[in-house]
Amino acid sequence: MHIIRAKYNLRIDTMLQWIRLPLLKFALAVRVLAGIVCLLLAPSAPAQDSFILSLAAAIDQSSLTPRERLGLRLFFDSSLSEPAGVACASCHDPRRAFTGNNSTLIGVALGSRSDQFGTRDAPTLMYLATAPRFGSIEKDGKRVLAGGHFWDGRADTLEEQASQPFFNPVEMNNASVPALIAKIEKAAYAAAFRQAWGETIFNNPEAALDAVAASIAAFERTRVFQPFTSKFDYVMRGQAKFTQQEQRGLTLFTLPQKGNCAHCHSVDAASGNPQKSLFTDFSFRALGLPRSSRIPKNSDAAFVDLGLCERVPVSGARLPVTTAKPPVTDPATCGFFKTPTLRNITLTAPYMHNGFFDNLRDAVAFYATRDTQPARWFPEGKKFDDLPAHYHANVDVDTQPYQRRPRQRPQLSIEEIDDIVEFLYTLTDGYQP
Ligand code: HEC
Ligand code: HEC
Repeated sequence: MHIIRAKYNLRIDTMLQWIRLPLLKFALAVRVLAGIVCLLLAPSAPAQDSFILSLAAAIDQSSLTPRERLGLRLFFDSSLSEPAGVACASCHDPRRAFTGNNSTLIGVALGSRSDQFGTRDAPTLMYLATAPRFGSIEKDGKRVLAGGHFWDGRADTLEEQASQPFFNPVEMNNASVPALIAKIEKAAYAAAFRQAWGETIFNNPEAALDAVAASIAAFERTRVFQPFTSKFDYVMRGQAKFTQQEQRGLTLFTLPQKGNCAHCHSVDAASGNPQKSLFTDFSFRALGLPRSSRIPKNSDAAFVDLGLCERVPVSGARLPVTTAKPPVTDPATCGFFKTPTLRNITLTAPYMHNGFFDNLRDAVAFYATRDTQPARWFPEGKKFDDLPAHYHANVDVDTQPYQRRPRQRPQLSIEEIDDIVEFLYTLTDGYQP
């Protein structure tokens, strides 16, 4: 089985290399053409992308409250960007566990303007409901930073997060709060909005923006985003059994002297309660990832995404709302990013904050071979090329499965990597026992 998957991944990877650029150009051309057609056909109506709307229709809305349903409609409304055409769902597609980068193949998202790319991969929005606020946790006998939203934890709550993409120039690009609220006032659900938040809600754009954020956050806290219906969850509840290979994978995943993955991607397989296994402790670490030449902004050698120590929108977002956090200026946290959940990981490629890896097997193999075969990942084997040399000391080299030296045997064999990947396949929701 593992041989088939390895070959398959290799083929897909080569194929992706080959088709990536032409495909991107093609996608852009289609977008531009579609834009022109829209302009010709409906010069005044706000462009609502019927395909994005059809994704919303596939969600079971029967148990949603009016405010949650409003959150859903806002989330799937592609008329709320400037120019119109991009919704939250464009980068957070429910079919891909709410990831997607607006359909680019370069590891980072395309915004509402056809030439504006971000610098980070859109993370999954699943299983965020119980994420702690930005702060610190006890780990390895000391206090370490953890929690918050975004790769650098700069938003404390889902409410605080939800208003930001609307105004980020490389995401939805609205010029001001009143400009956004005016669009919502014209939307088909404006009456429902008034009903849920008060007849006069649109008179005060700031209050209306809070209501928008609260509606979206309420939707993000529903079971749609945390169903706990993976094979792993069924096994935890005693309603399914792992195969031998999946069981081996789980053991390697948790064993401190092997994968040690659970050290950061927490799992409590003994508890029987799936909610105790979120596959993240929300802590921050520097993994020393390779620099991604696919990210347009990386062609500027002076540009570095330092993550936690900056805690600012790297795209230089203009935020009319005062949610921007003072940076954690501690230089020892430069290069740190938040540990993401691994639930639904098979649906959320590409991987890591810079979207460097297209396939899951590579992401796992990187852990095992970063220090034993650096030439496999870094040009000329020069490690940590996405961080200035004076921050290299921040990269985690002491935790397993690191702690290895060049030409030593990797901490995980090829078969063991396959076992872990096979286990990760059990974390996809929608399993039918
Ligand atoms: C153009 C693509 C794009 C659009 C549109 C977009 N996002 Fe995102 N989203 C991203 C990226 C990229 C990140 C990571 C950014 C970072 O860490 O700085 C992100 C991060 C997030 C996070 C944090 C997840 C975590 O693990 O902490 C949430 C929540 C979120 N987005 C919700 C939304 C909502 C709600 C909307 C619509 C109002 C939206 N996004 C629109 C690309 C997008
Ligand atoms: C010391 C903490 C730590 C350990 C141990 C660890 N991880 Fe991670 N993991 C992280 C952090 C932090 C990130 C995000 C790094 C970034 O993007 O800069 C991450 C990201 C990932 C991703 C990409 C997730 C995504 O949504 O893009 C995968 C897959 C992954 N880890 C799998 C594993 C596996 C498998 C193991 C064990 C072999 C493991 N991790 C061990 C901290 C850890």
